[in-house]
Amino acid sequence: PQVPAGYKVADIGLAEAGRHQIRLAEFEMPGLMSLRAEFGDSLPLKGARIAGSLHMTVQTAVLIETLTALGAEVRWASCNIFSTQDEAAAAVVVGDGTPEHPSGVPVFAWKGETLEEYWWTAQQIFSWPGSARDPAKGANMILDDGGDATMLVHRGAEFEAAGRVPDTTEQDSAEGAVFLAALRDSLNQDPRKWTRTAAQIRGVTEETTTGVHRLYQLAAGGRLLFPAINVNDSVTKSKFDNRYGIRHSLPDGIMRATDVLIGGKVAVVCGYGDVGKGAAEALRGQGARVIVTEIDPICALQAAMDGHQVARLESIIGQGDIFITATGGTGIITAANMLAMKDKAIVGNIGHFDNEIDMAGLSRLGNATQVEIKPQVHEWVFDRGTAQERSVIVLSEGRLLNLGNATGHPSFVMSNSFTNQVIAQMELFAKAGTGEYGTGVHVLPKILDEKVARLHLPALGVELTELSAQQAAYLGLDTAGPYKPGHYRY
Ligand code: NAI
Repeated sequence: PQVPAGYKVADIGLAEAGRHQIRLAEFEMPGLMSLRAEFGDSLPLKGARIAGSLHMTVQTAVLIETLTALGAEVRWASCNIFSTQDEAAAAVVVGDGTPEHPSGVPVFAWKGETLEEYWWTAQQIFSWPGSARDPAKGANMILDDGGDATMLVHRGAEFEAAGRVPDTTEQDSAEGAVFLAALRDSLNQDPRKWTRTAAQIRGVTEETTTGVHRLYQLAAGGRLLFPAINVNDSVTKSKFDNRYGIRHSLPDGIMRATDVLIGGKVAVVCGYGDVGKGAAEALRGQGARVIVTEIDPICALQAAMDGHQVARLESIIGQGDIFITATGGTGIITAANMLAMKDKAIVGNIGHFDNEIDMAGLSRLGNATQVEIKPQVHEWVFDRGTAQERSVIVLSEGRLLNLGNATGHPSFVMSNSFTNQVIAQMELFAKAGTGEYGTGVHVLPKILDEKVARLHLPALGVELTELSAQQAAYLGLDTAGPYKPGHYRY
C-alpha cells in the first residue's frame, strides 16, 4: 500500500490493528459490500471528490473504502473531537493494498482533538492539492454528519462576501469563538477560498437529525447554496441507527465509562424521539426504571403507552441515578439541575452537540471542582470538604457519550445508514442541479430506501413474502415496490 501525502492521525503504526477490525466489520456490512459488487466496475463516483466529516470509526472506514471502490477521491475528518478510533484512522490512511485501494485516503482525525484542532481538520478536507490555483481540483461533494462541514463552507462564503468575520453570531450554537477565529485566519490568508469552494460543490448528503435541522434552516432562510439529501430521514436510517444503534451503544458507553450496574437504577431519558426510544428500551432492558421527559404531547403519550413514567425534570431530579439527554435541543440539563441530583448521579448526552448539558454553567459554579477519573469520565465535586460534599459523574464532557466512551453504533446498523449515504452520493453526483435534485433538501426515493433494507435481509435469514400480481392489483401497488406511500410512518 501507498500512504497518501498529507494526513494527520494519532499513530500510523496502529494501521494493522485497524485493518483487522475493518475486515470483520465488512462481514457485518452487507449493504456496503453489495454496493461494491454492484458498482465496482461501472465506477459511478469517478470524478467525485468528497469532503467527508463523520465520526472516524471502523464502520466509517468501510464507508470510505466503499466510496473509493466506486471511483471517488476522498478526504476525511471526524465530526466530533472524541469519536475517532485511532486504529481505524490509521488503517484508512495506509489502505489495504488491494487493486480497489492501491493507496490510502488522507484522514485528519484523532481521539481527543482540541476545538482549534477540530476546525483545522474541518478545513483540511477542503484543502485539495492544487485547488488554491485551480478550483476545479477541489472538493465537489460533501458527506456530512451534524452539518459542521456544510456550515464552514456557507459561513465562509457569507463572511467573504461581507468582507469580515463578526466577533460573535447568534446564528448557530456551533459557531463559537474558536470557529470564528479559524474563519478569520482563513479570510486573511485567502479571501475567496470558501466562495470558490462553494461554487464547486454539487451537493451534500447529511447523516443526522441535527444536521438535517440545520439544512432546513439554511433552506428556509434562502441561504442554502447547493442541493442536499437528508439521509437521516430515510426510514432505514433514522428508524434503525437512531433507535437500534443507540439501544446497543448507549449502555456500551455507560458501562465502559463507569461499569455501574444499570439494573434497579432509575434512568431519566430526556427526549423520546427515535434516539430516546432506543435509549429507554436499552435501559429498561438492563433492568432500570425509566422516566422520560418530553415537550411533544405525541412523544410523551408514546412514552406513557410504552410503560414509562413521564415527568418534568424538576419533579424527579432527586430520583435519577442516570440522566441521558437525547433531544438535539439546548439547555436540557442545567447546572442547577446537576446541583440538585443524588450523590454520584451519572450525566451523559447522546444528542449531537454538547449544549444539551450546561457544561459552561457547571464550570462557572463557585462550589464545583472537576476530577478526571479517566479520559472522557469526570467527577464534578460540589461543596468539597463540607458536610454537603457530593458529586455527579459527567461522561465525555457532555458530548456524544456512545462515541466518546465507547465505539458508537455497531457495524450492521451502520451498514444501513451508510448504504443510504453511498446511494445518496451517487444520486447527487449524477443528478444534482437537474429537475430531480435542485437547490433544496431532498430525501431518497422510497424504492431506494426499500432497497437498503432488502440488502440487509439475507444476512439475518429473513424470508420475505412476495406480493402476488393479484394482491398487488388489489392494493394498487407494483409487485417490485414501493410498498408504502411517502407519508407512511412505520
Ligand atoms: P427526534 O427529533 O426524533 O427526537 C428528539 C426529541 O426530543 C423530540 O421528540 C422532541 O420533542 C424532544 N425534545 C426537544 N426538546 C426537549 C426538551 N426540552 N425536553 C424534553 N424533550 C425534548 O431526534 P432524534 O433522531 O431522536 O435525534 C436526537 C439527537 O440525537 C439529535 O441531535 C441527533 O442528531 C442525535 N443522534 C445521535 C446519535 C448518536 O449516535 N449519539 C445517533 C442518531 C442521532
